[in-house]
Parts: sequence; C-alpha cells; structure tokens
Amino acid sequence: MNKKLILLLSFVLTAFSVFGQISIIPQPSIVLKPEKPGNFLIDSKTPIVVSGTQLTNSANYLKNYLTKTYGVNLKTQNHTSASPAIFLQIEQKNDVPSGVYNLLVSKEGIYITGYDEAGVFYGVQSVLQLLPVTKTSALTVPYVTINDAPRFSYRGMHLDVSRHFFTVSAVKKYIDNLALHKFNYFHWHLTDDQGWRIEIKKYPKLTEVGSHRSGTIVGHHPGTGNDNIPEGGFYTQKEVKEVVKYAAERYVTVIPEIEMPGHASAALTAYPNLGCTGGPYQVQQTWGVFDEVFCAGNDTVFTFLQDVLDEVIPLFPAQYVHIGGDECPKTSWKACPKCQKRIKDNNLKDEHALQSYFISRMEKYVNTKGKSIIGWDEILEGGLAPNALVMSWRGEQGGIDAAKQKHYVMMTPGSHVYFDYSQSSRDDSLTIGGLTTVQKVYSYEPIQAQIQPNEEKYILGAQANVWTEYIPNEKKLEYMIFPRMSALSEVLWSPKNKRNWNDFETRLQKQFKRYDLWNVNYSKAYFDQLSTIPKAN
Ligand code: ACM
Ligand code: ZN
Repeated sequence: MNKKLILLLSFVLTAFSVFGQISIIPQPSIVLKPEKPGNFLIDSKTPIVVSGTQLTNSANYLKNYLTKTYGVNLKTQNHTSASPAIFLQIEQKNDVPSGVYNLLVSKEGIYITGYDEAGVFYGVQSVLQLLPVTKTSALTVPYVTINDAPRFSYRGMHLDVSRHFFTVSAVKKYIDNLALHKFNYFHWHLTDDQGWRIEIKKYPKLTEVGSHRSGTIVGHHPGTGNDNIPEGGFYTQKEVKEVVKYAAERYVTVIPEIEMPGHASAALTAYPNLGCTGGPYQVQQTWGVFDEVFCAGNDTVFTFLQDVLDEVIPLFPAQYVHIGGDECPKTSWKACPKCQKRIKDNNLKDEHALQSYFISRMEKYVNTKGKSIIGWDEILEGGLAPNALVMSWRGEQGGIDAAKQKHYVMMTPGSHVYFDYSQSSRDDSLTIGGLTTVQKVYSYEPIQAQIQPNEEKYILGAQANVWTEYIPNEKKLEYMIFPRMSALSEVLWSPKNKRNWNDFETRLQKQFKRYDLWNVNYSKAYFDQLSTIPKAN
C-alpha cells in the first residue's frame, strides 16, 4: 500500500476507535469506567440543581453552553430530590488546593462535587468534553467516575494587544478558550512600542496619541515597505472591567502588563518629556527593540508611572501587576545626564544597576498597594527586587536562578511555549520564525532537573506567550494557539505520570472536531507532519 493510503486508513481507524470513548483534554488524574457501560441522556427536562447561590455562575455557564452549542435549553433550580438531574455542589474541606473536583455520571444523573467554586467549574468543563462533538440534541454522557486536580496553580496564556489590537469580543473569546482548557490566568500585554491600549484618565494622550500608528511594515521584518494603513484601538476602563468580570465568571484571573522601562515608544510619543532626549518620538510601525525608553533620572517619570498604576490596579483584582522589564537597551541612559546623575547619586555600578533601581522603586510603590510585581527575567540583572515574581522567557535559567533565590516563577521559555513561532516546518503562514510543533509543546516540563524538591514550590506553573507582530486578526490568532494550547493545558493540569504523547494524539483527533464545534480556527500543521514526527514513548 502506498503511504497516503496507510495514513488515511490509520485515520479512519483512529477516528472510529475514539468515537464514544472518554477523551478529555487536559487528561484528568483518575478516570474510572463502570463495570456496566451506559449513557446518561441530558434533555430539556433534565434540571441543573445547585446547592447554594455561589454555584449559579457555573450552572448558568453550563446552561448557556448547552443552548449555544446544541440548542438544548435546561432549567436551573435550587435543592431538589428530583432525579435524574445534573447536581452541582461544593464540599468543604481544608487544605485542598483550588480547582479539585469529583465527577460521577450514572443513570441517576451527573454529580459534580468541587472543593471550591473553581473546582465545580472544572467539573462542568469535563462534562462538556463528555458530550458529543457534533451539533445534536441527543446529549449522551458516558457513565464514568473522575477524580481530578490541577498539577500547577499557575496555568497561563498571554496575549499581546499592542502589536495588533484585538476587540473586547475577541478577547472574550480568547478567555472562553482558556476556560475550556482549565487555564486560570490571562496575561494581558497592554502597552508596547506599537500601541498603548488602556485608557488612563489622568493622561488622555496615552490613548488619543499612543493607541494609533499610521502604518505597519509589510511582510517579515525588516519588511518590503509600509502598508500606510492606520492601525489602532484601546480599551476604556469600563471595557476593562467588563473583560475582568467576564474572566472571573470563568475562574480566570487577568494580570495587566504595563511595560517599563523599555518598550515605551507609544507612551513617549504621547508625553515626550518622559524620555531621555525629549523626542520627538513615534508610535512604532515596525518590530524589534527600540532605544527610546523611559528616563530613569527624571522623577516625573516615576510620578507618571505611579499615577498610571493608581488607575490600573483598582481595575484588576489580581494579586500581581506585570511591569515588563524586558529588552530595555541602555543606549539612551548612557548618553543622558539625568540618568548618569542618578547612577552617581545612588552609587550604582552601571546602567544594569540603574534598571534594577527603576524596577525596585516601582516595586516598592506596587507593594504599598498590597500587590506584587511580576517581571520578565531581565529583572534579575543588577539584582532582583525583593518581592518580585519572575517570568522566565529567555530559556529557563532565569526561572531556575530566581527559584534558588526563593522567588516565585512562571516558566515561559521561547524554546517551547512561544506560540508566535511556526508550528510547521513547511512555512504555511507568515510568522516570527522558529519552529514549535504541538509535540514539542507537549514535551515541555516546567520543573527542570536543577530544581531541588524543596524549591519546586517556587515554580508556580507556566504560560504560553502570544506576541502578535504577525498575528493581525482573530482567525490567525486562533490558528496560532490551536492545537498547541491544548497540549500546554495537559502539561499544566495533568499529573506528570499521566502525560503520554500517543494517548494525547488519539484524544487530539476528537479535539479537532471540538474546535469545529466551538467555531475556532486551528492549524492543520499537525496533519502535515504526521509522517515526519518521530514518535515519543
Ligand atoms: C519577551 O519575549 N520580550 C518577553
Ligand atoms: Zn535619562
């Protein structure tokens, strides 16, 4: 037989064998099938029964999902002995991490028991993945018992809305996708050289001037010209609140990122006095790292950034504020008398120590608000601010070093979880470059060998970063995150000993159908590479 026919046959067989099987991503900790298999049937007479008002959120989510996806309308009610039904309940238990749940499907109904609200919500998510992957009103749910708990407490996805702006509705759909995969943090990269995207009432020019650029380079950097098409957009504070609430209803915490001291061109264009030279500056129309950064010798800059954070912090209940800290060239500071005076007055060794001064000064301010800062791993250079958390992106060494200094860490290495990289060796669309296949993402292990058992607690989890230089719209955004985000969800949620590429690959076939059901775009690169991917385990 020729190779194509063998591939086709293996697909048909795989599709056949996964049909009707339990196929949840991320893989739960324990899945027990009953001795006598069967299906519970949800129909419009099946009530969703909640014990206590705190679960109406999960109940409404389930109800809306079933209506939207299958056109089946269920009713919610409080406390009943009526059976069969879908029962949502919380069991109080001390010292159980957030997100743990048990799920039982039997002929009496569906019983979801969480140890907190998030746990109930994740139980609901698993039920959604027991349902058919086609639009049908015959909602069969196979009998099963599931005991499940997240491996990591930080399961994140980042989105850069500066290089390209994404509407509130696109951001909400992105958050929906997080929820469907049991992610619990959304890192919202709101400011950068190419656009300032959040309304700050005290500094209206940030959005009047800084949220628009008059064109964008064409093609891969350095590009073949400029499209001269205006690009822009920003979120009002009201819209930010709406997104944060939407995320909270899905047990997703939103972490805002306000970049400093680098990646500041958009802010400097709006307020040139905040730069070392006073400008003029421009909202950048090309990609890369720019020398125009906030002046570290000018106290007005610190007042400005504190004012900005005064408006940002109350919008986000998150415990953390991300202040960037990456890719800050020291060229302007070296030539700036104010920056040099700051170095001298504070006995700082060099410009790296000046960056550390900058971050530590901002950290002190953020700490007075009861919040902690997160910074990219460059904040290790010149000394880590005392209470900072570190996102390790230039590989994992920064994260390992930070953990050894007893700082909390999120792993986001370019090697495995940069979803702006290509996912196919064949160049199927314009990307920043690199190659990160779904299998490579699946192979990622956030706890590196150099981390001692007593240091593991400092590795809170991991996150994929989605930089949008080459992601101009929602369709491309989904194409870049799927199916890699499904692979990452399993890295972050499932027990390490349950991770198995072959098994995931089988479940992925069904997940592809779910993407269609969810109306999300995804890369077919996985199929292109089936014949070339070396099989793991
Ligand atoms: C980064 O990718 N510059 C954090
Ligand atoms: Zn300066």
